[in-house]
Amino acid sequence: MNNDQLYIGIMSGTSLDGIDVVLVDFADSAPKLLNALLLPYPATLRAELATISQPGANEIERLGIIEADLADCYAAAVSQLLQQSGVQASQIEAIGCHGQTIRHRPNARQPFSYQIGDMHRLAALTGIRVIGDFRRKDIAFGGQGAPLVPAFHQAIFADPGKGRCILNIGGIANLTLLLPHQPLLGFDTGPGNCLLDNWVELHRQQPYDAAGAFAASGQLLPDLLLQLLSDPYFAQTGPKSTGREYFQLNWLNQHLAGRNDAAADVQRTLSRFSAGTMALAISQYPVADIFVCGGGAFNPVLLADLQSLLPQCYIGTTAELGVAPDWVEAMAFAWLAYAYDMRIPGNVPAVTGARKAVVLGLEFLPC
Ligand SMILES: Nc1ncnc2c1ncn2[C@@H]1O[C@H](COP(=O)(O)OP(=O)(O)O)[C@@H](O)[C@H]1O
Ligand SMILES: [Mg+2]
Repeated sequence: MNNDQLYIGIMSGTSLDGIDVVLVDFADSAPKLLNALLLPYPATLRAELATISQPGANEIERLGIIEADLADCYAAAVSQLLQQSGVQASQIEAIGCHGQTIRHRPNARQPFSYQIGDMHRLAALTGIRVIGDFRRKDIAFGGQGAPLVPAFHQAIFADPGKGRCILNIGGIANLTLLLPHQPLLGFDTGPGNCLLDNWVELHRQQPYDAAGAFAASGQLLPDLLLQLLSDPYFAQTGPKSTGREYFQLNWLNQHLAGRNDAAADVQRTLSRFSAGTMALAISQYPVADIFVCGGGAFNPVLLADLQSLLPQCYIGTTAELGVAPDWVEAMAFAWLAYAYDMRIPGNVPAVTGARKAVVLGLEFLPC
């Protein structure tokens, strides 16, 4: 029997930890995650991506090379996934590839969001049709281009009886509110792991604060916390989205100017700050259960902070709903490719602010 409808999803988020790639079967009403892997970015590419995410010299020349390098990495990840799954490229309907965001400016005079990675090259290297460029159509219709995952979260995680929040803690954190008898809502709450990653990299030369150990070794700085929370982004109501190019070291350093805090105390405060911005957003809605996905699900200090700020909520991870927290976002991009093929709109106007629901993405053929 061969009724399967296999799609590959590729997500590489703002944390720059690497490429999440998943194999999903959409043949049944409930999508089935068949296999998954994370291919860490080579150190040189990671450094180049971090650099090109900020304004710099000779960007066009550098971009051309980075886009090809990225496509090569995406193709390597796909090849590994196919190999470990025992599946041929010819069995795959399409790849849904998010690309790597290097600028997200939904509120500029001319709004734009820029995801890089040469999708033609990815199609040519894999021999598989690629659906990419998901965000710009939503922006063309007046939306933020983000978040794009709520429609997928609703499709697989909704509970008719209880208010659920799916909280994705990546570099930036975004939530989806699945409230019974109410329209689907979602927005970026602000920084997830990005400032924690930046600070631990600066002071401990580690890419992230494993299990929140560095944060746990410090003391909360209440005055700094209040100052960080005063950023106007948190008082805005949705639709809203933000990016790592805003919440980064320069932003933090502005708040630290004139202070002389111990690095561990700043890390402790950043953890409470990220959790605080998420809790502030969630507390506006009748949410009973929170299911976390993204790398933040592996940070017990962050989750304990969230729980202490939202004592009335149950907090678990999406593993309890059948999908390990590592793979939810990549699965969403497999679903967006499937949605492209089925002509199902991928955006939700109440979430992104777009004038209408539209089919998202652009097709890149291998022939
Ligand atoms: N064991 C862990 N302990 C603490 N933080 C972790 C752990 N594993 C992952 N993370 C955090 O999750 C981030 C990656 O999350 P991810 O969901 O991939 O984000 P993005 O979508 O931005 O790439 C890492 O940069 C790190 O901050
Ligand atoms: Mg990641």
